[in-house]
Amino acid sequence: MNQSPTNLTSRREFIKSTGKIAAASALAGVAIPHVHAAENNTIQVALIGCGGRGGGAADNALSVQNGPTKLVAMADVFDHRLKSSYDALKRQHPELVDVPEDRKFIGFDAYKKAMDCLKPGDIAIFTTPLAFRWVHFTYAIQKGLNVFMEKPLTADGPTSRRMLALSEEATAKNLKVGVGLMSRHSRALQELQQRIQDGEIGDLILLRGYRMHGPVGSAFSEKWPGKPSELLWQIQHFHSFLWASGGCFSDFYIHHIDHLCWMKNAWPVKAQALGGRHYRGDHVDQNFDNYSVEYTFADGAKFIMDGRCIVGCEPRYYSFAQGSKGMAIVSKANDCGLPSSTHKGQNPDRQNLLWTSKVDPDQQDPYLNEWNDLLDAIRNDKPYNEVKRGVEASLVTSMGRMAAHTGQEITFEEMLNCEHEFAPGVDKFTMDSSPPLRADTDGRYPIPKPGIVKHQEYEA
Ligand SMILES: NC(=O)c1ccc[n+]([C@@H]2O[C@H](COP(=O)([O-])OP(=O)(O)OC[C@H]3O[C@@H](n4cnc5c(N)ncnc54)[C@H](O)[C@@H]3O)[C@@H](O)[C@H]2O)c1
Repeated sequence: MNQSPTNLTSRREFIKSTGKIAAASALAGVAIPHVHAAENNTIQVALIGCGGRGGGAADNALSVQNGPTKLVAMADVFDHRLKSSYDALKRQHPELVDVPEDRKFIGFDAYKKAMDCLKPGDIAIFTTPLAFRWVHFTYAIQKGLNVFMEKPLTADGPTSRRMLALSEEATAKNLKVGVGLMSRHSRALQELQQRIQDGEIGDLILLRGYRMHGPVGSAFSEKWPGKPSELLWQIQHFHSFLWASGGCFSDFYIHHIDHLCWMKNAWPVKAQALGGRHYRGDHVDQNFDNYSVEYTFADGAKFIMDGRCIVGCEPRYYSFAQGSKGMAIVSKANDCGLPSSTHKGQNPDRQNLLWTSKVDPDQQDPYLNEWNDLLDAIRNDKPYNEVKRGVEASLVTSMGRMAAHTGQEITFEEMLNCEHEFAPGVDKFTMDSSPPLRADTDGRYPIPKPGIVKHQEYEA
């Protein structure tokens, strides 16, 4: 990236956030029961967050070209999630899943117990909702573990600053850290980015991302039914709550935001945005139904990100880059679907085709590529830490979301230095804890009110 707005973090903020890390660090680090002596070159893996993506990431970890790898421990806050994930992984990789009952851990401290089963140089996978990233990363760094963590990494300013400081600690310890922004590992997007940077479509003027479909995930929630606990229910419905996920905006739109900014090779400096709730009925979550964000880069170029979750509206899910000489289809479909292409002029016609991506069959899955790349860095001791970039992508995403939720223009520095921490104390959760947000007497949670609540995204 040719801009580094994160350098603008003030010294005061940095000290404040690193102080919290030091406090968290003091909690950690007793005995390390190694599962195996290091008599072979097997890299052991622990899965923390055994849901849909966790199962996928563990499957990728066990399918790498540069193994051997072995899954040795699992952690979750729900027993049934861990069990179904274990059963599926054991079916897929009977020889590579070695997780007996005493290495299956349940609870908010399960992450420590799972990481305690690893030795330095092994890999911890973080696939819980994002609220727990900094907590789990703090412990992994103390244990000298390499990490793969899913996107987004943060949803607010304080935890972004904390993650940036942790990233520096991880680099200082030569840990390898992959972040699940898999577009960066799409071989087609890698070649397209190089072509765009080499001037194939001229100067980039406009980027466009669209993710518009009906309700998906847990973005739409009706009232808490009374069980499980309100905290665990919010975690199950993490797309509904800004503290857990950054809401549908952060969770769904970060891929396009990340890869389009990569095409530009810059992060936007500010955002202004529209958004609203239209047909919410009994839904009590914090999301808007639609969002339209206009990001501005330092050179004045624009990036429009449109997101919508409404039944019956026309679905659109792809991304484009428009330059002074031509245009590119970046993601043909979904987050980073093949093929990418470049075209003369502003229409993606076949007769104007300049280039279309061709990727070897064994390189077509960006989820597997990101694991092969991480393992290559670990095995060959190459510098590899995607956290700073992942935090910056998360911040740019939060900047667009906050602009829509407040109705104000938000700059990158304002987002980075925003003091509203959505879930303070997330590192101290127990099964009996209250959630960071409580429902009102009607069972509803605080929603953004653009133009009324302007200094932060909601008032609890
Ligand atoms: N890169 C991608 O394309 C992609 C795709 C899907 C999901 N994701 C990301 O992966 C993450 C998980 O998403 P998902 O769809 O798998 O959700 P999920 O609900 O299916 O899985 C999350 C799991 O984490 C567990 N969990 C929650 N808090 C925990 C804690 N403190 N300790 C241990 N376990 C905990 C949950 O019980 C659940 O089993 C999200 O950040 C999401 O954005 C990325």
